[in-house]
Amino acid sequence: MYSLKGKTAIVTGSGRHAGIGEAIALRLAEEGCNVVISDIGKAKGNEFTDEHIGTTSEMDEIVQACENLGTKAIAIPCDVRITKDCENLVNQSVKTFGQVDILVNNAGVGYLMEAFTEFKEESWDAVLDVNLKGAFLCSQAVARQMIASKTGGSIINIASQAAKSGFPFAAAYTASKHGLIGLTRSNAVELGTFGIRVNAVCPNHITTGLGHWQNKFFSDKLGLDYETYLQGIKDRNPLKRTGLVDDIAKAVAFLASDQSSYITGEAMNVTGGEEYH
Ligand SMILES: NC(=O)c1ccc[n+]([C@@H]2O[C@H](COP(=O)([O-])OP(=O)(O)OC[C@H]3O[C@@H](n4cnc5c(N)ncnc54)[C@H](O)[C@@H]3O)[C@@H](O)[C@H]2O)c1
Repeated sequence: MYSLKGKTAIVTGSGRHAGIGEAIALRLAEEGCNVVISDIGKAKGNEFTDEHIGTTSEMDEIVQACENLGTKAIAIPCDVRITKDCENLVNQSVKTFGQVDILVNNAGVGYLMEAFTEFKEESWDAVLDVNLKGAFLCSQAVARQMIASKTGGSIINIASQAAKSGFPFAAAYTASKHGLIGLTRSNAVELGTFGIRVNAVCPNHITTGLGHWQNKFFSDKLGLDYETYLQGIKDRNPLKRTGLVDDIAKAVAFLASDQSSYITGEAMNVTGGEEYH
C-alpha cells in the first residue's frame, strides 16, 4: 500500500513480543521494507529486569516473522543509552542494507512510576536516559548517515498521550515524552533541508507488556479490579475501545512513506479521539 519496497528501517525496542515495536517491524516488513530489529537484548544494569526487556531469542523470532513476510531482516542488539551502541546500530545496518531510510525511536521505559515526593533520582535518570537521550543518540547517528548519503529519510518518534497531558506517578515518563516532542520539532526544522522528515506518534493506552504492567499499577492505586479499571479506559474513549499495537504501526507506516511527504514536525495523536491537542 505504501510501497516501502527496497527501503530499510531500524526499529528500536522492537524485540519484545506483543510490543508496539514488534507490530511496527511487522507492518513495515509487510510493506516490503527491510527491517532491523533492535533491542537491548538482555537485562543490563540494576534498573532493568528481564520482565520488561526484549530478549535476544525474542529478537530472533521477530526477525524470522519479518522474513516470513518476504522481506529481509536482521537483529542488532543496542542499548539506546550508549552512544557506541547507537553508532554500531547504524553502521551495521548500512553495511548490511546499503543505507537507512527510516528510523523508529520506539524503545521506552514506562514502568518506573512513583509518587512525585518519593520519586528517586535514579528512576528519573533511567527513564530520561532511555526515552529521551536514547532517541537523541539514535537520531543523531542516523541523521549523519542520511545526510552523508544525500538520500533523506523519515524519523518517527514514539511519544505518548503523556507527551500532551499530565499523568500521576509519571513525572519522569511525562517529562521525557514532552521532551521527545521538543526533539521532534527541533530536528524537523533543522533536518528538513536535508530531506529528512521528523514526526512523532502519540498513542494512549495499549495493553502491551508495558501496558499490562501499567493496568496492574493503576488499578491497585485506585483500588479497582483489573477488568473494571480497563473498562473505565474504554468507556472514556470516544471509540469505546483501547488502542491496538497495529493502530500505531499503521500510523508509522504512513509517516515512513511518501504518502506523508509534506508532513514534518507533527505529533500525531493515535488515541481514538481521547487526546485532541
Ligand atoms: N503501551 C502503551 O500504552 C504505550 C502508550 C504510549 C506510548 N507507548 C510507548 O511505546 C513504546 C513501546 O512501548 P510498549 O508498550 O510496546 O512496551 P514494551 O515494554 O513492550 O517495549 C519497550 C521496548 O523497549 C526496550 N528497551 C527498554 N530499554 C531499552 C534500552 N535501554 N535500549 C534499547 N531498548 C530498550 C524494551 O526491551 C522493550 O522491548 C515506548 O516508547 C512507550 O513509551 C506505549
